[in-house]
Amino acid sequence: MTPNMMTRQQAQATPTISNREYARRRRDLMAQLEADSIAIVPSASEKIRNRDCEYPFRQDSDFYYLTGFAEPDAVLILMPGRTKHGQCILFCRDRDPTMELWNGYRAGPEGACEDYGADDAFPVGDIDDILPGLLEGRERVYYAMGRNADFDRKVMSWVNVIRSKVRAGAHPPGEFLDLDHILHDLRLYKSAAEIRIMHKAGKISANAHVRAMQFCKPGVMEYQLEAEILHEFALNGARHPAYSTIVGAGKNGCILHYIDNNSKIKDGDLILIDAGCELEHYAADITRTFPANGKFSKEQKALYNVVLKAQLAAIKTIKPGGHWNQAHDVTVKVITEGLIELGLLKGELKKLIAKEAYRDFYMHRAGHWLGMDVHDVGDYKVANKWRVLEEGMVMTVEPGIYVAPDNTKVAKKWRGIGIRIEDDVVVTKDGYKVLTDDVPKTVDAIEALMAGANS
Ligand code: GLY
Ligand code: MN
Ligand code: MN
Repeated sequence: MTPNMMTRQQAQATPTISNREYARRRRDLMAQLEADSIAIVPSASEKIRNRDCEYPFRQDSDFYYLTGFAEPDAVLILMPGRTKHGQCILFCRDRDPTMELWNGYRAGPEGACEDYGADDAFPVGDIDDILPGLLEGRERVYYAMGRNADFDRKVMSWVNVIRSKVRAGAHPPGEFLDLDHILHDLRLYKSAAEIRIMHKAGKISANAHVRAMQFCKPGVMEYQLEAEILHEFALNGARHPAYSTIVGAGKNGCILHYIDNNSKIKDGDLILIDAGCELEHYAADITRTFPANGKFSKEQKALYNVVLKAQLAAIKTIKPGGHWNQAHDVTVKVITEGLIELGLLKGELKKLIAKEAYRDFYMHRAGHWLGMDVHDVGDYKVANKWRVLEEGMVMTVEPGIYVAPDNTKVAKKWRGIGIRIEDDVVVTKDGYKVLTDDVPKTVDAIEALMAGANS
């Protein structure tokens, strides 16, 4: 199937998160807050890129998780147990015909209630007058302490308004608690709707990788492959990548976060592409490595198959009841074994693993949580023990081997080869499901795809 055919088939409605689900998330969060508390969650704000141009606006993930509200300059207030006037209050930009004529639609406080399920809403310009009154009488304030110095100061200024009135009988909050821990634990468990979106993000990203492989030949520039990737994302409604696209040809593939993408691709290079789209605020994160000319060399193939074996073995460990580090441990074992077999490491397997000899070639971990943020939130250890996997958690599995171009400890033929293979995996009721398997990853399948593209 050509990418264009896939594109047409995919031009269907993107799955979304319902208002009911946003309300459930707020309820679940409030159920975990102490009595007499208030939670304050600010949105992201616009950032200037240069003079009158802003960076594309991306809502704060925590704020969006709880509201689905994509405008800047908003603040969510949750007040568990506040029955009369409602528990969910949104401060947001007021409607403004002139600003809307220039910069686009605003929901305004009315829209915040009608379309986003807020119990009450106010113009954000009034927050300094209103918020101290909401804080008054609440014992505890939850917010993401220390993340944004300006916001920390604002919270304190609102609290100080009440403190200044204690002699008149006002009761300021006495405890300040970090909201991140509770909220991020909720975000770690993905619902069916979230997984549907992530699966679609995975499919769009997989098709983009296929497209780049089909386009690739010696002589093209790395940025041209990036252009193919971004084109496929945007065609399918994912206007932004989840992170900067990495296209590393030859030894550039050994630079883990290479984003210059400005070298010419040579015959004999391996190309490492790490690219994933963001869809409805959810990330995909895929890496594939393939030969520029469509055919792996003997050395490239040998190392590639070690990485692939490690990745497949790691994915197989994923199931409820397993723990976070099992996948990493398996990749270390398979990669160290492979490097010994090919002569890049010398010694006994156990000893080489114990002294982490593999780190010259495999210097990162096997994966990370994935969700609204590409390196998503959620603890990897609980009570100092690796986290036990549970249904709905989503992670990447991404082992690699990178032989530095100046590694004189190995034969010359291996130097400058960089390989990573990365997929996105969800823990299911009884095992796992790969969300990104629409892009080939065996040597034969990659070579067949590329041969088909050039015939
Ligand atoms: N693309 C970033 C990562 O793989 O972690
Ligand atoms: Mn990753
Ligand atoms: Mn990646």
